[in-house]
Amino acid sequence: MKLLYEGKAKEVFSTDDPDKLIIKYKNSLTAGNGAKKADMEGKGALNCRISNIIFGYLESNGVPTHFVREIDETAIEVKKVEIVPLEVIVRNVAAGSFSKRYGVEEGSALKCPVLEYSYKCDELGDPLINDYHIMALGLATREELDEIAAITFRVNELLKAFFDKVGVRLIDFKIELGRYHGKIILADEISPDSCRLWEKGTDEKLDKDRFRRDMGGVLEAYEKILKKIDC
Ligand code: TMP
Repeated sequence: MKLLYEGKAKEVFSTDDPDKLIIKYKNSLTAGNGAKKADMEGKGALNCRISNIIFGYLESNGVPTHFVREIDETAIEVKKVEIVPLEVIVRNVAAGSFSKRYGVEEGSALKCPVLEYSYKCDELGDPLINDYHIMALGLATREELDEIAAITFRVNELLKAFFDKVGVRLIDFKIELGRYHGKIILADEISPDSCRLWEKGTDEKLDKDRFRRDMGGVLEAYEKILKKIDC
């Protein structure tokens, strides 16, 4: 196993199979493009388990994903994809940077879900980008963007129903997609690091905003999510 890449929250290793990789979840938490950092024992295992459950659910509902198998509590084997350098975000309720940018109170209803892209580029601070920018820069083709949008809205419908069933509101989320043998498939992770999840009724935050906003109880919130979905 050779370390190919170390990101903020994960390490990526090669395997004997050129078509497969191993991803290892780290215990680190970062926010503000790495400006804020912390290590929390057990966080990697929590996100790995939560993401595996969600990817299994999506896969069983016809969404193609990179997930192959669980290796141990922080490591998984995945299909080797070429990541499309976009953070693909869906918003069901106003929050975070959307609320700030447009002056809308957090928690406000939106008349329709918002699909939004950021260009994955740490040096530029992951700027907001639109379809035309993406095509002009050669980051993805029109056909790929159509496929990405279709998969992403399907993921939104499935995830909204999944979390609703366990008493959680899916406010927004970010996914990443990759090219695999000419097809677009879901990659990276889906966890409380990459979603806003509010408990139904109380609107208690059960996601990384607890870390971003120094609210405390980060691991407890992630554990609460795992407990709700692990049945
Ligand atoms: P935002 O409101 O800060 O733009 O975030 C929207 C959603 O995307 C939220 O669920 C958090 C997630 N997200 C990531 O997973 N990684 C990121 O780098 C950013 C900026 C947001």
